[in-house]
Parts: sequence; structure tokens; C-alpha cells
Amino acid sequence: MAIARGEKPAEVVFKNGFVVNVLSGEIIEQDVAVEGDKIIAVGNYSGLTEIDCSGKYLCPGLIDSHLHLESTMVHPSQLVEQASLTGTTTFIVDPHEAANVAGKAGINFIIDATKDVPGNVYVMVPSCVPASQYDDNGATLLAADLAEYLEHQRVLGLGELMSSDEIVAGDSVMHDKINLFKRKVLDGHAGSFDDKKLNAYRFSGVETDHECTTYQAALRELRCGMYVHIREGSATKNLDAIVSGIVEHGLTTNRFTFCTDDKHISEIIERGHISYNVRRSIELGIAPIQAIQMATINAATCYGLKHLGAISPGCQADIILLDDLETFKVESVYFKGKLVEPSAGLTALSVAEPLLNSVHLAPYDKSAIQLPLDGQFPVINVINGQILTAKSIETVPQKDGYFAADAVFNKVVVFERHRASGKVGVGVLKNYGITNGAIASTVSHDSHNLIVVGDNDDDIMACVAKIEQMGGGYCLASGGQIRAEVALEIMGLMSCQDYQIVEKNVSEMIALARRHGVNDKIDPLITLSFLSLTVIPEIRIIPRGVFEVG
Ligand SMILES: [Fe+2]
Repeated sequence: MAIARGEKPAEVVFKNGFVVNVLSGEIIEQDVAVEGDKIIAVGNYSGLTEIDCSGKYLCPGLIDSHLHLESTMVHPSQLVEQASLTGTTTFIVDPHEAANVAGKAGINFIIDATKDVPGNVYVMVPSCVPASQYDDNGATLLAADLAEYLEHQRVLGLGELMSSDEIVAGDSVMHDKINLFKRKVLDGHAGSFDDKKLNAYRFSGVETDHECTTYQAALRELRCGMYVHIREGSATKNLDAIVSGIVEHGLTTNRFTFCTDDKHISEIIERGHISYNVRRSIELGIAPIQAIQMATINAATCYGLKHLGAISPGCQADIILLDDLETFKVESVYFKGKLVEPSAGLTALSVAEPLLNSVHLAPYDKSAIQLPLDGQFPVINVINGQILTAKSIETVPQKDGYFAADAVFNKVVVFERHRASGKVGVGVLKNYGITNGAIASTVSHDSHNLIVVGDNDDDIMACVAKIEQMGGGYCLASGGQIRAEVALEIMGLMSCQDYQIVEKNVSEMIALARRHGVNDKIDPLITLSFLSLTVIPEIRIIPRGVFEVG
């Protein structure tokens, strides 16, 4: 109070900067007085340390309103650090992947691993574990299991309610979870509902959605009372379509925020994180202050984070400095009043033993991966540039009544790997194209079972043995030998190694996959990792066998 009254100098004062006031929509030349981790006052102040900000702009730290940290395949602290250096200081994460492998232990890992990082990490508790009734995952989380998170100070609500059809239909398992979290925020996943279903979904209490891919979808959800998180990540890019519509129609933006959902670290370093969303929106014609509001106060208001999202007395001192608002090039970032600097990398990690030992296969031999054929068979066709697949019924190569894989018709196998149930699904995959080898992964949405694609059984078996030995990850075998590997020993999803090492191993594996003939119109690893996802069209492979969606 004495500092705010001007009777005592503050610890640090950012002097003479142009302060972006996201509350009033103004930019005013002022000082910002900071003590410890808090903004004490804005106005004319002096401090024990004064940082000259003449000619610079001061913005609140940016907020990513929805992301999955596991998708980076590295320790969660690494993404937070790299994104923080680009201006994102708050992350609202949904540990959906970790929960589908390890249940509450997976959620707790993400919470613990992001305790001492240069960013505020809040958690939305995964709502769909397992993702569907057809999934063989590592855990089932019912409302009673989630109750312990209700009062957790870093839990803001219930994450990505993907089973939207069940919710609209009144499914009691989902509504028990919704009722439990009804005083918190419910994150949605509305997809392509018609108006009536959307009304029912919103009426259930769901308040946000990050799945809008068009301006029209965003507008419908906005009218219905939802916050729209505009997504721009590595795999899915929706910003241009939605923001262009907002500009064209002059729409109010106070219910729009930004998110990445999934964004690779290399892309964050190259193009920025939420800073990219702001920059691109300005390029598309949104006023800078409006874009900054979308990236800060709108998300803070949506999630009830009263101490974040603005530069005003009592807010946390998460401040970014910029030379120019239009280009939105971040010069430096302060988190809780301290300059964010690159760390020396990962220090000794403590990961609980069960999370490092998550691949549990029943005893198996080559007989497990044989596919008896009697006439034609449904083939899973990879579609170039997409994670969707198409079904065709074809006569496939065979020998002695069993499918005989080749470079055109690859064999795809999924081993249930959580409970050693012995379930193994075998199918035929076309347009992937691996030749003289096999490639495997435990990153396999949404249940993260062990998936392998190959043109011969020896290499498929070599991959399975290697994955078991590594405790999860990706590997590629040829001639019965392992030729490339990316160990992801934390739940089979994340590595204990530094992100530079993981990224180098991943790019080497992709290059090797190309040399083994994998279709150059697809990402060899991402395509593999989505072949089991039961919620997108048209035909998938799961431990229970070939699965037709819908
Ligand atoms: Fe998501």
C-alpha cells in the first residue's frame, strides 16, 4: 500500500513505457511498479531498480487457453520454458494423453512437472478417459475419481468434453462429471453440431470450444454463449479462417481467445507461440489492442483468473516488452517480476517408477500377428496430407490363407499394452508404403497402445521387442535390426532427454522412413500415431481389430 501511495520506492519500476491497458483498450505512457511477483501500481513511480522502457510497449503475459503438453514428446517443463521465452506466461493444459495411459498418476505427473517452471500452468481435468467405449486404455476415470481435483488450486475445471454426442443424449456417466465441476469451467469439443444439438450441449454447461474450423461455426458458438478458443498449432491451423471472418463482419471479440492445442517446440522457436496468433491476427486486420486482449484478458476472464491477463494493481507481474506492436516481436519477458532466461536444460528428473514402466504386453509370438483371409478384406487407406482414412474392399496378397504384406499392402498391428490382455488387432494398410522394414509407436491416440506398420513380420516383431525394452517410443527396424529409435520412456509418451536430442532423433527417423519408401505426402510418425483414433472417419485399427467409425 505504501508503494502504491508513492511513499516508498518499489523493488523494480518499468519506466516510461507505453503500457497496453487491455481493460480500457488504451495505450498510455506510464511506469509500472513491481514488488516481488506483483504489480503494485501503474502511474508515475520510482524504484530501487529502474528499467528504462522508453519507446517500448508493455503487454500482459500471453495466455494459451488450451493445449496438451504431452504432444511435444518432451518433459512438460521444456515446452513451457521455450514458449515462455516467446511471451506466453500462462498455459491451460489438458493432460488427456497422460491420463489415458496412467490415470490419476498421469495427471499428477503433469501437475508436479510444471510446478517450478517460468509460467503459470493450470489444469483442466481430462473428462474422457477412456475416450470411447471401444478403447482399451490404461485407466477409467469416473466422477468419483475426479472429485479430489475439485479443490486443487491449479485445477480450473473439466477438460475437453469430447463425447459430445453422449452429453447431448444425456449420458449419466458424463453428466455426473459435469455436475461435479458445474461451478468451474467446462471445456468443450463441439465439432460440427447442428443448432439444436449445440443448444443442448451449451445448456449442459459447456462454456468453451477450440474445435471451430470456420468463421460460421465460431459465430454460431459465440451466439450460443460459448467462448471460442481460436486454434493455431502444428497440426491444425484455424486462425486465418476465423479471424478473417471476424474482421470482415466487425464482430465483437471479447469472447474469443487463442490456443495452440498441439505445437512442436521447433515451430515455437521459429515462429512464436501465442505471439504468432497475435501477430497473424494483426496482419489479417485485427487492431493490435484487440488481438492482445484476445491473448490475455479474454482468456483470464473465461477461466476466472483474476490475477492474470492485465497490467493493473494486484495482478501478477507477468509482463512482456516489445519494440513494436504491429510486428509483435517480443524483446523480453518477465514472469512473476523476474526476467525469463534460457535455462541450462533438463536437470535430474524424478519420474515415478510405474510411469517409466508402462508397456505391459501379454506373451506373444509371430502367430499373434497373422491375419487369416477368406476372400476380400477391408483395407485402411491413408489419405495424403490428412489423418483421416478411407475404406476400400480389396483382394489383398495372401499365402496359405493368410495375408502376405508387401510394399503396397502393409500390415498394421496394434497390441494392447496397458494391462497385458493379449488383445492384438491386425489389419491391412495402403498408401503408407514402408518397404523392407517396419515402424512402431506407443504414441497412438487416444489410448496409446503399441502400433506397428511393416511389410514383413520379422521387422514387425523386432520393433515390438525394442519398444518393450525401451519402455515406449518410436522405432524403425529393417533386416531384423533396429535402425532408428526415439525412446519415450515416460508413459510411452515423453522423453527424459533434452528436446534438442529428441527433435534430432525424430528428424533422423523421418528421414530413414522416407528412405524406406514411406509416402512423402504424409508425416510418417503423425500418420502412425492417429491410425487408432476411433473418433475420426473412416476406418481404423485398434486392439480389438479393424474398426469402422460411425
Ligand atoms: Fe485438445
